[in-house]
Amino acid sequence: MSTAQTATAIIDPNMPDVPPHVPKKIYLKDYKKPSYDVETVDLDIKVFDDHALVDSTLVMHRQAEGDLVLYGEDVELLEISINGEALSSEGYSQSDGKLTISDTPDQLTLQLQVRICPQTNTALEGLYMAGTGSDTMFVSQCEPEGFRKITFYPDRPDVLAVFTTRLEASKRYPTLLANGNLIEQGVVADAPDRHYAIWHDPTHKPSYLFACVVADLDVLTDYYTTSEGREVTLELYAKAEDIDKCHVGMQALKDAMVWDEVNYGRAYDLDRYMIVAVSQFNMGAMENKGLNIFNTACVLSSPETTTDIRSFNVKAVIAHEYFHNWTGNRITCRDWFQLCLKEGLTVYRDQSFSADHQSSAVQRIDDVSMLRAHQFSEDAGPLAHPVRPESFVEINNFYTTTIYEKGAEIVRMLANTLGPEKFRQGTDEYFRRYDGQAVTVEDFLSALSVADSKIERFIDWYRQPGTPVVSGHQHYDSQAQTLTITLSQQTRHVAGFDAPKPLPIPVATALFAKDTGAIVAERMLLLEEDEQVFTFENVTSEPIVSLLRDFSAPVQLNYDYHDEDLAFLLKYETNGFNRWQVTQLLVNRILLKGHHPSIYLQAVADTLPQLAVDDPMLAARLLDIPSARELASAIHKDYDPSSIKQQREGLYQQVADSLAEQWTALYQQLPIQGYEDSPKARGARALRNVVLDMALTAQVEGADKWAQQQYDNASCMTERFGALKALVDHQVAGVNDYLADFYERFKADELVIDLWFSVQASAEQVSTDDITALLEHADFDWNTPNRVRSVISALTSQPTVLWTSEGLDIYTGAIQRLDEANPVLASRLLQVLARWYTLVEPQRQMAHDKLSALQKQASSKHVLESLDSVLAA
Ligand code: ARG
Ligand code: ZN
Repeated sequence: MSTAQTATAIIDPNMPDVPPHVPKKIYLKDYKKPSYDVETVDLDIKVFDDHALVDSTLVMHRQAEGDLVLYGEDVELLEISINGEALSSEGYSQSDGKLTISDTPDQLTLQLQVRICPQTNTALEGLYMAGTGSDTMFVSQCEPEGFRKITFYPDRPDVLAVFTTRLEASKRYPTLLANGNLIEQGVVADAPDRHYAIWHDPTHKPSYLFACVVADLDVLTDYYTTSEGREVTLELYAKAEDIDKCHVGMQALKDAMVWDEVNYGRAYDLDRYMIVAVSQFNMGAMENKGLNIFNTACVLSSPETTTDIRSFNVKAVIAHEYFHNWTGNRITCRDWFQLCLKEGLTVYRDQSFSADHQSSAVQRIDDVSMLRAHQFSEDAGPLAHPVRPESFVEINNFYTTTIYEKGAEIVRMLANTLGPEKFRQGTDEYFRRYDGQAVTVEDFLSALSVADSKIERFIDWYRQPGTPVVSGHQHYDSQAQTLTITLSQQTRHVAGFDAPKPLPIPVATALFAKDTGAIVAERMLLLEEDEQVFTFENVTSEPIVSLLRDFSAPVQLNYDYHDEDLAFLLKYETNGFNRWQVTQLLVNRILLKGHHPSIYLQAVADTLPQLAVDDPMLAARLLDIPSARELASAIHKDYDPSSIKQQREGLYQQVADSLAEQWTALYQQLPIQGYEDSPKARGARALRNVVLDMALTAQVEGADKWAQQQYDNASCMTERFGALKALVDHQVAGVNDYLADFYERFKADELVIDLWFSVQASAEQVSTDDITALLEHADFDWNTPNRVRSVISALTSQPTVLWTSEGLDIYTGAIQRLDEANPVLASRLLQVLARWYTLVEPQRQMAHDKLSALQKQASSKHVLESLDSVLAA
């Protein structure tokens, strides 16, 4: 089935030892307006048992010089005509995925018929069949360049058109959906077992926002009246057995609709909003106009089957895709270099939405942890790129944490610099000025700058790769009663880019009185030069300084704190994020700089009991020890996974042991109660799972029993899975019975079985044999990205296993296998290996050899582009 398998077999061992050719880069500076725009598109998609036929009629106008260019990939051209006249094969040329027609009139109607094969489309881009046997559906994914796999089209985001879509299929697929409004449906005249539906989308949209679905689904329906009085029908489509897991998502959708009206003045603009759940999907979800398509993992949720973390993520993703309707769809990107324009802004919006649905400190902690673990390491390695890249080979490789998360951090700095009123004034101007257009990052900044022109300086944040390091120290003059803080910034020079310039870095700062712990001054310091001195007047005694509060800029901070100052801040900081932040600084110093752990252990012991009562979720985070991967991102040479693992485990053990007395009381303080979905109840569940793991680590008497009872008596998946994870990680007696029980209970539920795979693949003691056994399990499926990730991505959480010869064979073997079948997924898996060159020998050489071997066998431009960068390190 997978063609990638055969690719391995036919490799010629005598092939010369030169890296394969990486296709050509395209550059932002080469941007040109398209020669034609498209006024209307009429699509007719007929799905048959082993292929589909796509007819299209495009009404086009010339708007610039040049040939008429259409893109097409894996589509077979059957007919082509202009203004009713068929073109012979001399009338156009086809190469490199482009169909070019010269000497065309300024106004024209282009008609095409093509054949595609969704049934064999394993790349999950364009129109593809998901599922197997009698349980199949057809679904599209067009962002960024998937529409060209459906038909030839000027498939670029700056071509906006009005789409009318007719879908036709067997009645075995009763659900026929496309963007916009349903205008007609019926039975096909001479084929009574087939039916059709016609949809019309009145908005002008780029082809990447096109979507269609041919399936057999149930629907959950609800209604929403917008602030403008529009009655909107909300529909969530899923398989019949999953429909009861759609309520969380439906509520989140309504919450998001209100939220965008209140916070940005944006109301929904169509009469219908549809969401469709599909189990085979490369990413989380897709914001197609009026017809979002979601990975089941990002839309289905029920207490019995979904952990709190995933359920909270469902709400965030629903909000994210909904918010795209304005930031992405109504105002879209001029070209794919501007991807952060819609993604950075929309992530910032969904983070703000989430912060309104739990403690804002915890939200910030989770967002920053994610940024540090993934984006900082990306920025520190060979895949570093600006938030707005200047070149790429394959745009799919740029759906990165830099574009999404660092992009969101830039918007956050803009919002904080402007303050709430001016930021709102700026975004109002953005929507007013650019509604219905395809624009650039400069346009965004220029709209925001009506509120305050100084923010145009932030453009360099979009242009320059690398994480700035901010260093600082303070001087107190008791005579003058002044405190001066000297801050400087430095960004590494990334090869291929200009020497880095100083960036505007907002550093939120507070001074705390040493004797009382009270705040004596608060200021936003804007560091704009290489080095700057900031002076605070009338400071009557030397204070403790808290910097970068709430993580006011995406930078690394080096400040000359004493460990005692950090312990002081853990006690007195009022910003919850910074309280967590100081524990992380202390842990980093212990693990990476050999500081003695006593101050940290004491500070945690002093803080935990009260915090567990006041904010259990924050208390759970307080015990965080950065992941092996995050720690590794700070190591640039001779990274030894086993020594990091030892040190992490050693510190974890010390925390567990030094608080051993507290775990029993804490665990009992958090009894299992009926399920409730509130921040407080979620906090209690999170803390209980952390305490359980700590108790098992400290070998507290009876902790084995707690885990077993928690599993047996669980009221929801957070409790059951938390217990299962503890049983697995601590190899508690009988663990295999629990794993078997979990499998039996949930074997019909793919998303839960993903958890079952991942808990084993990421287990503390996992071996490569265990991983191989999971890959050979009857339920493992290379065609379902969620399942692939549940084993292959889970492996990356155990670097001591990943960075062995067998571990890398499994990992690179997976990439090779997916290279042809699903290059988007293959390349994303590969990107995680980017920092191989920091490993200690002999692992470094081994990793190099495995990646070079992969390079000789890879064929997709996705994987080749990533390998090219990764191996250049
Ligand atoms: N625009 C989508 C989102 O972030 C992501 C889709 C990306 N798809 C892809 N194949 N790269 O909401
Ligand atoms: Zn998005």
